[in-house]
Amino acid sequence: MSVHKEVKRITTHVLQAMKNKGEKIAMLTGYDFSISTIVDAAGIDIILVGDSASNVIHGHETTLPITLDQMIDHASAVVRAVSRALVVVDLPFGTYQGNSKLALESAIRIMKESGAHAVKMEGGAEVGDSVKRILSGGIPVMGHLGLIPQSIYKFGTYAVRAKEEAEAQKLRDDAKLLQELGCFAIVLEKIPALFAKEVSESLYVPTIGIGAGKHCDGQVLVTHDMLGINKEFSPRFLRRYANLYDQIFSATENYIKDVKSNDFPNDQEQY
Ligand code: KIV
Repeated sequence: MSVHKEVKRITTHVLQAMKNKGEKIAMLTGYDFSISTIVDAAGIDIILVGDSASNVIHGHETTLPITLDQMIDHASAVVRAVSRALVVVDLPFGTYQGNSKLALESAIRIMKESGAHAVKMEGGAEVGDSVKRILSGGIPVMGHLGLIPQSIYKFGTYAVRAKEEAEAQKLRDDAKLLQELGCFAIVLEKIPALFAKEVSESLYVPTIGIGAGKHCDGQVLVTHDMLGINKEFSPRFLRRYANLYDQIFSATENYIKDVKSNDFPNDQEQY
């Protein structure tokens, strides 16, 4: 008898069936146990343990500094929280580029040590060998094209990608290649909406957009951004569903006031 709860888990096959039926896929990032518990209970399809943790959790300017050990730590906490969503983990910068053996070793560490269900990696043909080798190890891979933040120093800017035909054609070719290699889904970041529509319609695997318009098969946002935890980051594609910065700020002010005025704790809040 299984000791695990009977819930219908999201698998890569469920995601493919969703695309086939025209049902949109909802993905959010997750980095810790508490928020991931809520997001999973609310019914999210995929939790991405994104290397955006480097920015929103660790305060770095880019995604480059986060380590494989840190990603495994975040992923383990998310996996412990989740009973339904598919948990996908970003392979961080420097753990897969240019060395497919290292890539497989990194992906195996993530799967073994965190219990996650899949990995995500940025790039097309240039990481093809690594994608292939990880897939040969039985590990599902999500691709990521368009704006790929691990290459920010190559691009030099976070501007919209694939506006020029040459770059658009490379993205088309890369998307087809990732699909042929066996990726189960592809993130399309910050590319024109009509181009994302064309790419999404040309693929049988689902696309998940961020700043790529409404025609992708699913959408992803960084949870801290959509909850309004930081105020500085406000690109056009971001819709805020809460304003937690202000709520946390005023809750903290009230707590400080109550402690200083000896209002907290009161007689009912002590033993
Ligand atoms: O790291 C991340 O959060 C991501 C998403 C923005 C797709 O890669």
